[in-house]
Amino acid sequence: MPKLTIAIDGPAGSGKSSVSRRVAALLRYLYLDSGAMYRALAVKALRREVALENEPHLEALARDTHIELKPPTPEQEAAGAKNCVFLDGVDVTQEIRSAEVAQAASRLATIAKVRQVLVAEQQRAGAGGGVVMEGRDIGTVVFPKSELKIFLDASPEVRAERRWKEHQEKGEKLTLAEVFDEVIERDKRDRERKVSPLVRAADAVLVDNTAMGIEETARLIVLLAQEREKELAGAAGRNS
Ligand code: CDP
Ligand code: CDP
Repeated sequence: MPKLTIAIDGPAGSGKSSVSRRVAALLRYLYLDSGAMYRALAVKALRREVALENEPHLEALARDTHIELKPPTPEQEAAGAKNCVFLDGVDVTQEIRSAEVAQAASRLATIAKVRQVLVAEQQRAGAGGGVVMEGRDIGTVVFPKSELKIFLDASPEVRAERRWKEHQEKGEKLTLAEVFDEVIERDKRDRERKVSPLVRAADAVLVDNTAMGIEETARLIVLLAQEREKELAGAAGRNS
């Protein structure tokens, strides 16, 4: 069967990472979390106290940064990691998940030249196909020709509650209202920015998993992927 490029986009807390990781495991594809790259760069910018409005400085920082995504070890997976993220060779898997880093990531993600650097990296990483990549602009900008595009969504209340539970499990003392505000503010910035805003691609399948679990959602997407694989195999057979 031909190997697809699967693009999964959607707002914060819609289930992109969990569902994409499971889809990749079921199909034996590579899973790539593009948001982790924006988050890793944000960690570096915060550590160096670079103003998040300083576009030339942030662009230079992006060019001068090496971000690597690696599959988690079984122990890391048991601790909830879906991807291991290395910033200039140092593991920042835990650190990138704070609400502060999420906000900083969405601010530097509004800068066109920062995006250019990270998008080029993402295109390199996913170039071979057989990949599930998730983010905000994967189906529209990073891989506009991907064979299967999913726009994953869920109600804002459910998305905020999911994220809040994660913070609770890590012992972080954010209230549900604070997490709701963080998620809504970031959604608004991501949807309204000029460059590569979060938008459903015209050919993306909308999957609302407000009332669905991770496994159920992943299996639905796998069914869609298998249909596409068959269609492509059939088309290739007719052309040969
Ligand atoms: O990557 P994204 O922000 O879109 O979402 P996620 O990190 O995959 O999911 C946020 C949280 O919601 C995780 O703790 C998932 O386990 C949970 N989740 C869920 O309970 N049911 C779903 N259908 C999807 C995600
Ligand atoms: O997990 P969650 O959905 O909360 O966020 P994420 O996917 O880790 O992404 C963090 C931030 O990076 C988002 O709020 C976006 O501003 C930005 N991002 C983006 O602009 N484009 C992408 N392809 C992925 C993330």
